[in-house]
Amino acid sequence: MKGVYLGIDLGTSAVKLLAVTRRGDIAGEADESYPAIYPAGGMCEQSPYEWIAAISRAMRKLNLGKGDVLGIAVGGQMHGSVVLDGDGKSVRPCILWNDGRSHEETKYLNETVGEEALVRMTGNIAFAGFTAPKLMWIKRNEPENFARIRKIMLPKDYVVYRLTGSFTTDMSDASGTLLYDVGRGEWSEEMCRICSVGRDMLPEVLRSYEIAGRLNEEGAELLGLETGIPVMAGAADNAAAATGTGAIGAGGCNISLGTSGTVFVCTDDYKRGGGEMHSFRHADGGYHLMGCMLSAAECNRWWTELVCRSDYSAEQADMPAPGSAGVLFLPYMMGERSPHNDTDARSVFVGMRPSTTRAEMGLAVMEGVSFGLRDILDRAGVRVDRARICGGGARSALWRRITASALGVTLETVATEKGPAYGAALLAMTGCGEYNSLKEACDACVRVTDEILPDGELKARYDELYKVYAGLYPALRQTFRNMRGI
Ligand code: XUL
Repeated sequence: MKGVYLGIDLGTSAVKLLAVTRRGDIAGEADESYPAIYPAGGMCEQSPYEWIAAISRAMRKLNLGKGDVLGIAVGGQMHGSVVLDGDGKSVRPCILWNDGRSHEETKYLNETVGEEALVRMTGNIAFAGFTAPKLMWIKRNEPENFARIRKIMLPKDYVVYRLTGSFTTDMSDASGTLLYDVGRGEWSEEMCRICSVGRDMLPEVLRSYEIAGRLNEEGAELLGLETGIPVMAGAADNAAAATGTGAIGAGGCNISLGTSGTVFVCTDDYKRGGGEMHSFRHADGGYHLMGCMLSAAECNRWWTELVCRSDYSAEQADMPAPGSAGVLFLPYMMGERSPHNDTDARSVFVGMRPSTTRAEMGLAVMEGVSFGLRDILDRAGVRVDRARICGGGARSALWRRITASALGVTLETVATEKGPAYGAALLAMTGCGEYNSLKEACDACVRVTDEILPDGELKARYDELYKVYAGLYPALRQTFRNMRGI
């Protein structure tokens, strides 16, 4: 497997590795999963050490020769608070992007500091999953831990740190901290002051395809490779995913059906965020607007694996025709970010009768997630007729069909649904000079394999069902508040 680029996707449920040739062919792949810990309702953590151990195990499975890899890049779950002490040890587990514990801090930021001020300083309003409110939560609830923090980084930056010793991040991931001024492209001094974060605790911000460092002894040992291999700064998983599906430059759109669900709309210039949509930098140096639902394929995993104790193909084989479940499902298993910004929200099935079957409920779960994506798309403020799709959920032909009709968007699949890992490999190629730009790398490597058009009749049915779905959250909002702590 000589001469491959290694793309690593540090996901929420697993790390996914792809070895990709300079022409874009996949030469090898390996995954290794790790648990997410739910210490209490609405909380979700992971140990950074588990990520490193899983990457090392996955590399052994990939079975590359020591000199096979030309360059490495990592795309990673966003917003996580990796906090290290003066010796580079993790002070506490990483609080993940879907953790809602910082709702008080988020409220303070949005209501007392004010949404307008936040958007002026960073381009975005506060959401509980973003890094800054979580740091404020640590300061208030774990002052001893907060006092020990010397370095703050995003999950994929910790991997780069362990592989190279470099303390860096990239613009796309920095965007999701709420400490970074997306428009100006620098850390916001004002936000750092508000959150009691010293500027020296934050990493240097690079372009996603810039070399952050080279494999050091420890990194080489972990991966079973030679020292000196360049490691790029990498990208937020959504920016890496959009790269991996070729959604680069104005007009590009990527939809991800991963643990989370995202609608990622590329823009050439900076547009202030606010409301439901995040305004972040893209991995090519451009910008994007993005909405994120906290539980997408995760809802399907919960239903299929935990509730039905079954597998995806068995469950989906039995399903009735899309649109005929007679049941609706709200996908708010971890609260919801876009569009409701409500950590109290929860999942709900509505409409069961004595005849309702498990297969109908399973279909409702998939449809509920697709309606959640429509909730975002309808508010994106841009018209999208065509989008690329990736993420574990995109492997299901049924779910792709449901999503195309629920959104009224033509969906295109590419050679791999592992968008973030493939995008990371393209970053590595660009950083190593195989291509002159990320766009050139995408044009040369990303191949569309299928196109799913919305089905007219199903779309009309979904338009009707969506109206009922859209009324559920407002009707239940107070109930969700009343359930706090239950
Ligand atoms: C995006 C977000 C999620 C995570 C999932 O804002 O929080 O998509 O990046 O890994």
